[in-house]
Amino acid sequence: MKIDKSKFESLKKKSVKILAIESSCDETSIAVVEDGRKILSNIIATQIEIHTRFGGVVPEVASRNHITAISNVCEEALKTAGVTLDEIDAIAVTYGAGLLGALLVGVSFSKGLSYMSNKPLIAVSHIKGHIAANYLTHQDLKPPFICLMVSGGHTAIINVKTYTEIELIGTTVDDAVGEAFDKVARVVGLGYPGGPKIDNIAKQGKEDIVFAHKNILANTYNFSFSGIKTAVINYVHTKEQKHEEINVADICASFQKAVTDELANKAIKAVKEYGQNKLVVAGGVGANSKLKEVLQRECEKNGITLYTPSLKLCTDNAAMIGSYAYYQFMKDGKIADLSLTAKSTVELK
Ligand code: KG4
Ligand code: ZN
Repeated sequence: MKIDKSKFESLKKKSVKILAIESSCDETSIAVVEDGRKILSNIIATQIEIHTRFGGVVPEVASRNHITAISNVCEEALKTAGVTLDEIDAIAVTYGAGLLGALLVGVSFSKGLSYMSNKPLIAVSHIKGHIAANYLTHQDLKPPFICLMVSGGHTAIINVKTYTEIELIGTTVDDAVGEAFDKVARVVGLGYPGGPKIDNIAKQGKEDIVFAHKNILANTYNFSFSGIKTAVINYVHTKEQKHEEINVADICASFQKAVTDELANKAIKAVKEYGQNKLVVAGGVGANSKLKEVLQRECEKNGITLYTPSLKLCTDNAAMIGSYAYYQFMKDGKIADLSLTAKSTVELK
């Protein structure tokens, strides 16, 4: 469905404010974003503390907490931005990928808001939103570029041709990299959320443990993280059986090095082979200090400019959804109708 042509033409002439809603996992977030680049507000109500005691995100618990939080988060987002719902031009929402029940809360709320305020509704892919986090951080960044997507649910190398045209170059054949961080953290007793905890403790460790695993995808742009994850689990179990102490910092540092080297090698290779000179990182694992250090060093060596989202915009937030929604909407005025529903997976295309 497309927005009314005259309405679309008049929108093109003014600055466009989008109210964006994100509820795909354990963060209820609502933001107001102007022209895809300027954050007027970005409220994030995180449920991390609630899920920590379960050792990971419990989908049903996440959905219930989104329901409790969403109205207040919306009010806060409008208030912080200093705008009323009347002044909003369109409503954007993450429709996938993510936890179905969690997504449904945001999707239902956005449909209600769009219907009662008569504002266009824009359905955004969470994965594309992560890429757009960089448009908010780096005002000068424009496609084309190569994106290294490293989130809790996705790991991919993407050729970003224009704001709205992307081509998948490589992806994980098993675990996403964030998932591997979370599982390894659990095995060594660090708990949830694993990524930041591994990042922190690895700073005190040595990178000298070799977790032997077959790298069957060496000559492709695809990734596999289940081999190294299993190697870490086996290493810990063997040590336990022998009643030997494990050095958590060394395990984390060695695991992190192996994973970040693999990500950096393939991403740099893609930038060169696709004739690009910009590498853009997206997703929660983009917050990892080792990954940023390795990428910065390798990019400098190869004359590539590295872009990473600001720390707050690496992990889930609604501002990134508002940014991507702007480019998607302004391309052709395509809007969703009230039949919009949530999807646990979305294709990267
Ligand atoms: O992008 P994101 O917020 O959610 C998804 O869309 O999946 O990513 C969450 C993932 C989690 O697996 C978390 O452990 C990881 O990002 N993460 C990190 C760091 N901060 C968050 N992984 C490694 N190092 C970090 N500093
Ligand atoms: Zn995410």
